[in-house]
Amino acid sequence: MHRSFVRLAATTTGKSNNQLRQKLIEKIIRVDHAGELGADRIYAGQMAVMKGSSIASIIQHMWDEEKEHLDTMERLCAKHEVPPTVFAPIFSVAAYALGVGTALMGKEGAMACTVAVEELIGKHYNDQIKELIDDDPTAHADLLKTLTRLRDEEMEHHETGVVNDGPKAPLFDALKFAIQTGCKGAIWAAERV
Ligand SMILES: [Fe+2]
Ligand SMILES: [Fe+2]
Repeated sequence: MHRSFVRLAATTTGKSNNQLRQKLIEKIIRVDHAGELGADRIYAGQMAVMKGSSIASIIQHMWDEEKEHLDTMERLCAKHEVPPTVFAPIFSVAAYALGVGTALMGKEGAMACTVAVEELIGKHYNDQIKELIDDDPTAHADLLKTLTRLRDEEMEHHETGVVNDGPKAPLFDALKFAIQTGCKGAIWAAERV
């Protein structure tokens, strides 16, 4: 949110800048926690199917990074007293099913899922980084550092999906559209409750 808008909103609603800043931080951490939980469950679902396959170590590597991301978000939730989204249990099940379903399509299907999800999440992290810089880069220095690191790792996952033939999956464009639409719905929900 732009600083002048924050000030205007603050005077019109009677809320202090601190309260608005806390709301912004809560929104960002809640949705990112949901996203990292989803990513952890997707790769868990994929590994349940692809264990022992030629790409198991590639998926395991991304899964290990997602576990660390989830850990990071859990620590941030605790630090800023942000409860997880009420949709967390549903997201967990849906994400696991997405992981299993795409892995059952084979290597290309699994990697297509990574391409679709990581592209969207990378963009979403970028939007949040811009929002925090617009608000106050100094006040958000630590959070910005974390989000930038996670964004970079998600972009590496995206690249892994591309070089491992994700875009060669059957009906790749339709699959990517469907997955990204589902993820956008989840983001919309998690940013609110
Ligand atoms: Fe992640
Ligand atoms: Fe990722």
